Amino acid sequence: MSSNATTNMAAADAAAHTMDDRIRQTLDERPLIVASNRGPVTFTAEGNDRFSSRQGSGGLVTAIGAVLQEHQAIWIAAAMTKGDRERVKKAEREGHALITPEDSDSNFKLRFVVPETDAYNKYYNEISNPLLWFLQHYLWDTPRAPDITHETWDAWRNGYVKVNEMFADEILVACEDSQPGQEPIIMLQDYQLYLCGQMIRQKRPHATIQHFVHIPWPDPDYWRLLPMEMRCSICEGLLGCDIVGFQTPNHVRSFMYTCEAYVPDCTIDYATRCIQWNDRVIQVRAYPISIDTDEVRKTAYSQEARAYERYLPTHWNEFTILRADRAEPSKNIIRGFLAFDRFLEVHPEFRDRVNFIAVTQPSRMDVEEYRNYLDDVSAIVGRINARYANVETGWQPIQLIMGEKYARVLAAMKWYDLLMVNSLMDGMALVAKEGALVNERSGVLLLSEGAGAVEQLGEYALVVAPADVEGTANAIYEALSMPIAERQRRALALKRAIEREDVTVWFRDQLSDIVRLERPDSEKCEEV
Ligand code: G6P
Repeated sequence: MSSNATTNMAAADAAAHTMDDRIRQTLDERPLIVASNRGPVTFTAEGNDRFSSRQGSGGLVTAIGAVLQEHQAIWIAAAMTKGDRERVKKAEREGHALITPEDSDSNFKLRFVVPETDAYNKYYNEISNPLLWFLQHYLWDTPRAPDITHETWDAWRNGYVKVNEMFADEILVACEDSQPGQEPIIMLQDYQLYLCGQMIRQKRPHATIQHFVHIPWPDPDYWRLLPMEMRCSICEGLLGCDIVGFQTPNHVRSFMYTCEAYVPDCTIDYATRCIQWNDRVIQVRAYPISIDTDEVRKTAYSQEARAYERYLPTHWNEFTILRADRAEPSKNIIRGFLAFDRFLEVHPEFRDRVNFIAVTQPSRMDVEEYRNYLDDVSAIVGRINARYANVETGWQPIQLIMGEKYARVLAAMKWYDLLMVNSLMDGMALVAKEGALVNERSGVLLLSEGAGAVEQLGEYALVVAPADVEGTANAIYEALSMPIAERQRRALALKRAIEREDVTVWFRDQLSDIVRLERPDSEKCEEV
C-alpha cells in the first residue's frame, strides 16, 4: 500500500472517531425522541394492575429498537392494543406520562398517543395502509382503483390529519419537558406520520427534525392519483423537517422530482440533494437500512431456534426453497408460486426432490385487500399442490406455514438452498439480509429488482424483474443447478456485504448528518 493511501486511511479513521465522539456528546446533551406508529413493545394486562410487555413485530421496530439500547430515548407510538390503552391509564393514575416497559432490558421510555377508535381506523386502515402503502408500492390496478371518494376525504381529515396532529402534540409536550439549551433530536418514522414534521415546525421553529421513510417513494406521475391537496400536504409535511431520509438514491431522486412538481416555491439542487423552501434548507439523503447482525445471529442460535431445528427437517428435501413474508400484496407471493409451478412443469426431474416452504404471516387483516390476498395465496398453493402432489411418496411441492415466530423463521433460514425475495416493490426487504447472514448451506438469493436490497446485494444474487414469471422460473433452475463453488462464492460475498453495513451504520450515518446540521446553511449543501 502506498504511503498516500495509508495516510488517507488514517485520516478517514480519525475523522470517523471524531464523528463518533461528536455523536456521543450530542446524545449525552440532547434528548432523542423517536416517533413511529407501531411502538417497540405491546402490553398485556395480567390482572391486579400488573402488565407484561413484548417486543412488537416488524422490521422498523427491530432495527430501531436494536440501536436505541445504548441511548436514553423517548419513543412515542400509538396505543394499538387494549393492553396498551390500559397501561396508559395506569401511568395516568400514577401521575406520570412516561412508561418504562416491563420485562424489557431496553433503555427507552414510552409515551403513547391514544386516538379514538374511529379516528385510528381512518388513519391506519383507510389512509395509511390501503392508500399510501398501495400508492408507494405501485399496487393499484389503476383503471379500477383507487377511488378517492367523500369517505376517503373524511378518513384523511378526521383520521390521518387528526392522528398526525396528536403525534405532533405529544412530541411537542415531550420537547417541553427537556432542559433549556438541550433541544431534542426528533426522529420521525415512515408513511403514517408524513404531516408531523411541518406541524411541529410551525410551533417550534428551531426544532431539529429528521424523518426516515422506510418504504419506496414512487415517481411524481403516480402521486397524481392523489388529489393535489393530499400530495402537497405530504410533501410539505416532510419539508418541515431538516433531513428527509430514504432507503435508496432512487427514492431520494423521486422525492425531489415530486417536490419540484407539486410544491410551489421550492428550489431543488439535485447535485447537493438540498431543497430550499420557506427560507430553510432541507437535505434529502439515502440511508439503506440493515439488520443487527449480532442480534440476528444470537436469535438464530438461541435455545428456542434450536428447538425448532428438531422438527423443521421434516419440511426439507434434497432441495429446499424458502420464502418468509407478511401476507402482503407487495411481496408478490402469488407470482413466486406461479414461477415455481412453471419450473416444475419444465423440469419434471426436480419433482419429488424439491420443497417450497412459505412462512407467511397474516397482516393488516382489517383491510379487505389483505384478506383477499391471503385467500388468493392459499388458493394458488392448493392448486399447485393438487397438480403435482405424489400420492405414492406423499410429496407436496408447497408447504404453507402460517404465523410468525422470529426464532422459527431464522432457524428455517439456515437450511434453504434458495431464498426467494421477489417483491414487486420493497423499501429494503430485510429478509434477504437476515437469510443470507444465517444460512449455512451456501444458499442462493433470488432477489427482485424492485427491492431496495438490490443496491447492496444484487451483484451476488440472481436478480429478477418481479413480474417476470418465466425469468423467475429460470432463476429457480439456475440456483438449484448452480455448482457448489459458485454458490459458496456468492454466499460468502453476501455475508461480507451484510456484515460491513449493519444497522448501526444506518443509524450512525443519520446521526452524523444530524450533528452536522449545526453548520451554517451555506456549508450544509456540499456536492455529494
Ligand atoms: C413494515 C415496513 C415498515 C412499516 C411497517 C408497518 O415493517 O417495512 O416500513 O412501518 O411494515 O407495519 P404495521 O404492521 O405496523 O402496519
